[in-house]
Amino acid sequence: MFFKKVEKKETPKGKVIPFLNQKGGVGKTTMCFNSAFALAKKGKKVLCLDMDPQANLSLLFGIDTCESGELNIHHLLVNSVRELKSIHTPCLVDDVIHEGEVDIIPAGQELSGFELTMAAISSPRQLILKKLLEKNDLLNRYDYIFVDCPPTLGLLVVNAICAGHGVIVPFRPDDFSKKGIMHFYDMLEDVQDMGIVEVPQVLAHIPNLVDARRKIEETDLLEIRELISKRVGEDRVVDPFFNRAQLVKSQASKKSVFDYGGKEFRPLHQQFTEIADIIETWNN
Ligand SMILES: Nc1ncnc2c1ncn2[C@@H]1O[C@H](COP(=O)(O)OP(=O)(O)OP(=O)(O)O)[C@@H](O)[C@H]1O
Ligand SMILES: [Mg+2]
Repeated sequence: MFFKKVEKKETPKGKVIPFLNQKGGVGKTTMCFNSAFALAKKGKKVLCLDMDPQANLSLLFGIDTCESGELNIHHLLVNSVRELKSIHTPCLVDDVIHEGEVDIIPAGQELSGFELTMAAISSPRQLILKKLLEKNDLLNRYDYIFVDCPPTLGLLVVNAICAGHGVIVPFRPDDFSKKGIMHFYDMLEDVQDMGIVEVPQVLAHIPNLVDARRKIEETDLLEIRELISKRVGEDRVVDPFFNRAQLVKSQASKKSVFDYGGKEFRPLHQQFTEIADIIETWNN
């Protein structure tokens, strides 16, 4: 009698890391972009995935899908849902990936209709991204897939969380952030309660745009630190990123900070490399 050999599926090597915070302008895109290049400098193969309809990350890679009308992550997500066959656009994942030192799958403004498009489907709406990544074997092609999230806690972000292994949360140390961070942990608990995926680990909360001269920020930061420690039982807040003009300069030229060799860029090289180190240490 012949038995079909059942191949044992190995756990793929790649890890999905969403950068998220429901607040806007806290540095998600900036951290995602530069930390991806920090890991690429260490020889890792990194894919950036833009899940924000604003498509800021795509613009940093020099891609404007609004202007070019090219296919983007929205089309891949829709195509991956069989029930939506009538609105599929023929394309493969490799048609959408732009290759470079760091690869990118761009976003498009069509993503703003994601929630509505998915409203009527019967398959699990939270797992569309996870299944897309698995089906296309992207977790075996890349060491890390960085997901830049929009400033919401909507379905796009829930998809990023459900596909994620470890998350990075940049924030501005102000009074509003305290509530926001607690909402974020409530939401992680909600995802856990759904019982369909393992909730990703929070790798770091990164205070950003900190002005060292402002005493109130120092106090707020301390309070946020205590709040997180109380909630999760450990200090997950790393050293702050200060407000630095060099970051604005590099972004205006659509370059990572590692494209600049000047002394004034060294603290930024160091900080983004530290984020890369946190991710690698966790993954080892
Ligand atoms: N440490 C920093 N120093 C100076 N400017 C910064 C720093 N971090 C981010 N910025 C600037 O702040 C602005 C907002 O950053 P970014 O777009 O990364 O935030 P975001 O959280 O992705 O925003 P959104 O929620 O709208 O997507 C950008 O103009 C960026 O260049
Ligand atoms: Mg952004």
